[in-house]
Amino acid sequence: MAKKTPTPQILRPHAEVAYKKELAALAKQDTGVKPTGWNLSPRAVVDYLLGETLADGTEITTKYFGDRRIIEVAVASLVTDRALLLVGVPGTAKTWVSEHLAAAISGDSKLLVQGTAGMSEDALRYGWNYARLLAEGPSEAAMVPSPVMSGMQAGKLVRLEELTRIPSDVQDALITILSEKILPIPELNKEVQAVRGFNIIATANDRDKGVNELSSALRRRFNTVVMPLPATLEEEVRIVTDRSSAAAAGMELPPIKKDVAAEITRLVTIFRELRNGRTEDGRTQLKSPSSTLSTAEAISVVNQSRALSHHFGNGDLTPDHLAASLTGAIIKDRGQDESVWREYLDVIVRNRKGWEDLWEVLK
Ligand SMILES: Nc1ncnc2c1ncn2[C@@H]1O[C@H](COP(=O)(O)OP(=O)(O)OP(=O)(O)O)[C@@H](O)[C@H]1O
Ligand SMILES: [Mg+2]
Repeated sequence: MAKKTPTPQILRPHAEVAYKKELAALAKQDTGVKPTGWNLSPRAVVDYLLGETLADGTEITTKYFGDRRIIEVAVASLVTDRALLLVGVPGTAKTWVSEHLAAAISGDSKLLVQGTAGMSEDALRYGWNYARLLAEGPSEAAMVPSPVMSGMQAGKLVRLEELTRIPSDVQDALITILSEKILPIPELNKEVQAVRGFNIIATANDRDKGVNELSSALRRRFNTVVMPLPATLEEEVRIVTDRSSAAAAGMELPPIKKDVAAEITRLVTIFRELRNGRTEDGRTQLKSPSSTLSTAEAISVVNQSRALSHHFGNGDLTPDHLAASLTGAIIKDRGQDESVWREYLDVIVRNRKGWEDLWEVLK
């Protein structure tokens, strides 16, 4: 008998695949009113993101940790004829939330345009298969639709990452699409009319250098939701703990043996204090490094420490593994960040009760 080739393992399945069971369970018990073209009612979409135990016992995991109202506002804007813009500093789950919204509402998070500085209008409209274009002239078969065009035809949500990196004149191609809900195709003397269910979720980072401002005409077509940094230390610790355990499974790391809560709390404390420029108790002013010490960065420090510890240690998350990944995350610009970090170590870490072991490995 021929040996079966093993099915390749997808590194990161799309949300609608990874959470297929949850989405099906939510759809089954969903009694709310579904907007045309939506897979779930707005209430069920919010439950999918915030987590909930359903009447049939299915556990809906929490995807977004934070204020329920933010997600409600985001979902409500998608019901209107305005598009949704998620803005915030790096690592505030803008991309993550947009992926899950698309998965829950359209059952498809794959219609994605990555905004870049060198982008042309074609990426928002359509391109051509040049071999066919030359052989047959402009025809529908020779067209290569953009994700935006596909979303309009299928009545699905389209994700537009880093909207403000797109040059302003290219951004303006969105105006007709968002206000008239049509995409003209002059070459064929045709147009695509958007089907109900179509809308756009854009993300933009307000810390980026070289961003292009949104024109006011375009801004009017978006409802903006600001994604905040986690309000409290406890909340941020919860996010980092939850997301890094999920990532550990993805990296084929066993669950951590020792209780990691204490280490994660120390790490998040360091991140928050350096980011805010003062200690958690508000007593000492600090300098902030140039690096963006986001929640996402804290998650990756924990992941890296876990990998280090699993492959080169005994599997426990210890201060020396944490220290090794921490320094790299904080010092991005050698000159400036190094002295900020040094000062933090000497003033805070050295003198904080219970942090003696951390000081030992970092000093
Ligand atoms: N409040 C939160 N709830 C759940 N996960 C969070 C939260 N904040 C951050 N994360 C996690 O942080 C990681 C990074 O988030 P994401 O990539 O969506 O950030 P972003 O806001 O798009 O950042 P950027 O501006 O750099 O693109 C994700 O894995 C996400 O799970
Ligand atoms: Mg992002």
